[in-house]
Amino acid sequence: MTVATEEHVRRLPKVELHCHIEGASRAGTIKELAQANGVTFPVDDPADLYHFTDLNQFLDIYAVVCASLQTADDFHRITYECLEDAVEAGVRYREMFFSPGFVIKLGVPVSTVWAGVSAAVIDARADLDIGCRMILDFDKPSGGGHALEMADFAGAQDRDLLIGMGADSVERVDHRPFAAAYESAGRHGLKRTMHAGEDGPSDNIALAVREFGCERVDHGFRLLDDPELTAEIIDRRIPLTVCPTSNVMIANVVPDVASHPYARQRELGVLATLNSDDPGMMRFDVADEYAAVVGAFDYSLEEMEQISLDGITACWAPDDEKAALRSRFEAEFDQLRSSYGLPARNGAG
Ligand code: ADE
Ligand code: ZN
Repeated sequence: MTVATEEHVRRLPKVELHCHIEGASRAGTIKELAQANGVTFPVDDPADLYHFTDLNQFLDIYAVVCASLQTADDFHRITYECLEDAVEAGVRYREMFFSPGFVIKLGVPVSTVWAGVSAAVIDARADLDIGCRMILDFDKPSGGGHALEMADFAGAQDRDLLIGMGADSVERVDHRPFAAAYESAGRHGLKRTMHAGEDGPSDNIALAVREFGCERVDHGFRLLDDPELTAEIIDRRIPLTVCPTSNVMIANVVPDVASHPYARQRELGVLATLNSDDPGMMRFDVADEYAAVVGAFDYSLEEMEQISLDGITACWAPDDEKAALRSRFEAEFDQLRSSYGLPARNGAG
């Protein structure tokens, strides 16, 4: 067992599977875009806006951020910039959410959003050392009709850029009307995921994986409440995209990372990946998250390298891309170890 230092784990290569472009946007950019679009911003520094003590408050502020985003160029800018920031956090591959429900309500068509987002992904792939695919999250409170529209829109786009459909926002809504949207997403060959068991019950996780065909679950904080479901998730190797610090800061369902069920989930054999959620609005990225779990759970370097590799296992890239990522990560693990005077790994992972 090798001691993991914070500095070392920040530098590990990472995959990130739970990150929202709107919540990952830079505060300064949002202020500039608000001014350019004639949107009144309630404070000088948008960072001063980012004070929330539960998911509802967080989403109210999220809506203010979204109101500043109006043109395809705006969406290009926040998408590209948050991929630049991801590179700084050691992310080599990311599957990222965009949530058009907020701006659709303000009159911005989803096609405008996607024009900017997809162009930024193409540009970032060419310019930056990062791979990326997008997941369209429909807005749960907007209901089943909106969900179906989003599934059909997503289904008509280039699958190499838009790989999946998910759902976010508050959980305390009736989820049954989303069945048709998930069915349509499946027919279109989209991968499926859903925010579930974040501030709502484990029943929503069960719905996602038993009724909606979800291949991943976003958050899954409440999974261990249901031992049978936990056994099923382990058995079917359905990954969770866990965001411990977000659960402390946004959903406020746990007082600190040390009290989070992440370590217990992994001990039991759940494929629980590690992610940031909304790094811009939280001012806390996935490198900070790696450092946080080392501090909270005393993880060894081997465990942290395994967490990094689990991101590759859980991602939706084609098999050849996953194999290339794995080889690259393993080589980088050994280079990093060598730079800290540590012996190479011995075939772990
Ligand atoms: N949208 C952005 N972050 C979210 C979260 N943590 N939960 C639900 N919806 C979100
Ligand atoms: Zn999220």
